[in-house]
Amino acid sequence: MRKIAVFASGNGSNLQAIIDSIERGELNASLELVVCDRIGAYSLERAARAGIPSFAFNPRDFTCKADYELVIAERLGALKIEYLVLAGYMRIIGPTLLQRYPKRIINIHPSLLPLFPGIDGIGQALAAGVKETGVTIHFVDEGIDTGPIIAQERVAIATDETRESLAEKIHRLEHRLYPRVLQNLLKNREED
Ligand code: GRF
Repeated sequence: MRKIAVFASGNGSNLQAIIDSIERGELNASLELVVCDRIGAYSLERAARAGIPSFAFNPRDFTCKADYELVIAERLGALKIEYLVLAGYMRIIGPTLLQRYPKRIINIHPSLLPLFPGIDGIGQALAAGVKETGVTIHFVDEGIDTGPIIAQERVAIATDETRESLAEKIHRLEHRLYPRVLQNLLKNREED
């Protein structure tokens, strides 16, 4: 079974969807570690409740990204993690991790990339007045939400759409799509 780590900075609802999907036997992966850059984030509580070890750190305790990514890399290495799954991890992945996990770092973004990359993809779509947006799952490269796309799904934006209603639609889609796409990806790479 593929060993994965989930990186989550905040609420961790996508982390929860992954945990639940593993428990239901739909996602065949072993979630070995949750990595979080915000002490006290709710994602850490979700990990604890599911009995999954976590590594929480404060980036300010390090002089630079390379320093904390090296510590993360050591943890991942010790656990023989094969895939890094970003789920609301609010930091750009640097060369330290990218070089160790080429094509093995996956991210989910709440827009139809290349539209609306970066912070607040949902708000950007609403502000732009587009009729549809969606969710993208992609490999992570050195850019911000620029790596090769693995899967995308659309969400219609209603004329009376609010930020809350759109966020809810997007999250519902994310929770269904992410575990399914991960399962396909891991299954197809079994011979790697
Ligand atoms: C999701 O909308 C994801 O697309 C984005 O950050 C959000 C994380 O939400 N990258 P959660 O922490 O999983 O609830």
